[in-house]
Amino acid sequence: MLKRLTVIAIALALGIAGCGGSDDGGSDADAGGSAAAPIEVGPGDPANGEAIFSSTCVACHGERGVGIAGLGKPMPGSEFITGLSDGELIAFLKEGRGPSHPDNTTGVDMPAKGGNPSLDDQDLADVVAYMRTLG
Ligand code: HEC
Repeated sequence: MLKRLTVIAIALALGIAGCGGSDDGGSDADAGGSAAAPIEVGPGDPANGEAIFSSTCVACHGERGVGIAGLGKPMPGSEFITGLSDGELIAFLKEGRGPSHPDNTTGVDMPAKGGNPSLDDQDLADVVAYMRTLG
């Protein structure tokens, strides 16, 4: 009787471990496959976005994104910004727009993540939420 219980316990333990392992593998594969698609994250926090903007983006784009001649483009009224979904804008920020990119309009580099590689998807969602408040 005891022996049978032990066998069941081992079988259960193996079963649980097996499920956990295959779940992890699945989500890794999903993350790799959706690299080029619009990014799905929770709603952005514009207050945190403003803090990130003030440290990472303001040097090129100016206070409240008004733009700086020869550096970053103005954001208020940008048809590029209003024409993209939040997920598409996050994907744009992750990639940037270098001087040789076909869509580049100024010959100046828009670095990936504004040159701050520590920003994660949620940080970028927060920056996008802040950009939406600029008009
Ligand atoms: C080193 C300077 C620099 C930094 C830092 C920078 N940008 Fe830019 N950004 C640019 C330049 C230059 C362009 C215009 C590229 C072009 O010629 O098309 C641009 C373009 C953009 C555009 C497209 C605007 C349009 O109307 O086409 C967005 C959106 C944008 N930046 C967001 C950001 C955000 C958000 C940050 C901070 C996370 C950031 N940028 C940091 C230089 C910068």
